[in-house]
Amino acid sequence: MDSIRVQGLAPLQGKVKIQGSKNAALPILAASLLIEGQVLLENVPKISDVYGMIHILEELGCLVRWERELLRIDSREARLCSISKELAKSMRSSIFLLGPMLSRFHKVALEYPGGCVIGKRPIDLHLETLQRMGVQFIDENGQLSASAKELSPASLELPFPSVGATENVIMAAVKTEGQTNLRGAAKEPEVQALCRFLNACGASIQGIGSDSLRIQGVNCLHGAKFRIPADRIVAGTYLLAGFTCGGSIFLEDAPVNHMEAVCAVAQKMGAGLTVSENGIYAQFPERAGELPFLRTDTYPGFPTDLQSVLLAVRCTGKGKTLVQENIFENRFRIMEELKKMGACFHVVNEREVEVKGMPRLSGAEMEARELRGGAALVVAALGAKGESRISGRRFIDRGYENICRDLRELGARIVSE
Ligand code: UD1
Repeated sequence: MDSIRVQGLAPLQGKVKIQGSKNAALPILAASLLIEGQVLLENVPKISDVYGMIHILEELGCLVRWERELLRIDSREARLCSISKELAKSMRSSIFLLGPMLSRFHKVALEYPGGCVIGKRPIDLHLETLQRMGVQFIDENGQLSASAKELSPASLELPFPSVGATENVIMAAVKTEGQTNLRGAAKEPEVQALCRFLNACGASIQGIGSDSLRIQGVNCLHGAKFRIPADRIVAGTYLLAGFTCGGSIFLEDAPVNHMEAVCAVAQKMGAGLTVSENGIYAQFPERAGELPFLRTDTYPGFPTDLQSVLLAVRCTGKGKTLVQENIFENRFRIMEELKKMGACFHVVNEREVEVKGMPRLSGAEMEARELRGGAALVVAALGAKGESRISGRRFIDRGYENICRDLRELGARIVSE
């Protein structure tokens, strides 16, 4: 059961409810280690990365329980222990435990979060900022040990607005006495969600949504109920999927306010969008209109996590598109798989690829090797003549609750097998 089979060329029609955000849920789950009370989370996506993080919390002694759609976490009895190698290695997001564990236990030993096929993904910015807050790091046979007798507040500046490094600083600073200032912070909606969650628990974080955060340490954080926002990347995936062969769809709960760049691109390619309080209604042309250039950027720019999906859509759009990837250096690897369907690319350099739209792709056997690239192959298959089979579904399951169910609700002919 690790494959997806798609019969292409069914126009999309229908509505789908957008799941909770993976990238908001993971750091919030890690941050629950800081809370001296019960945390109740609504709308947590049921995806393998979330299950992995819950496993880690349970290993640390937290009580975690699903109560239908609510996730209850009580970390009052948590204690310091080493985290399973396999869990830490398989999840890049285990790095989010650095900040909360240092704050709570003053030390932590972690496997280096494994490299990843989308790029090198170093953690230097996490380490440098935490060092400035008094943390000492030792590298022992590939294991990262960190300790700090006392964390100290600091004035920090990130040379690049790393999402993960920003989140680690926030989590390390919320209970550190004094004021920590972070300039050059990431502004992504998921960072904002983490700040709003912590403030709901009694933290004092100011400047939310800007690149300059002021975090006044508090002694204690109390429990709270918090709703994980809807996933803008999942919503963007389905919005772009609509271009594969026309139709009209409604994306219920899509976080429109955080999807400006994606909506603007969809409109440029000829989609008619009607935005309401509870979602986006989109109508698509038979074929995606011209889009000469697209660059990925940090928020509010076009998200790197949707670059592969966009690339898949441009394979059958009108004209040529130059796609520039500015966040991760290795996010064009799905080209090889898309070529099996007849897609046509010209690699300009490491960061830029030109895609020439063909009238049609043909179904093929393909292999997903990472989360967003895998979703992009599924989207390409929706617009291809005949049958496609995509293996490596487990990568897609890391971030999509059930991509087959969702796309079936939109009229696609797709099954997992
Ligand atoms: C998060 C998201 C991921 C998204 C990315 C960018 C989660 C779980 N993942 O990943 O889906 O694609 O933001 O929006 O929230 N970098 C360094 N040194 C560091 C840290 C990062 O050089 O210490 C580089 C990375 O290699 C990359 C760039 O900065 O080239 C962006 O990384 P970052 O913003 O940290 O992404 P993540 O937090 O890993």
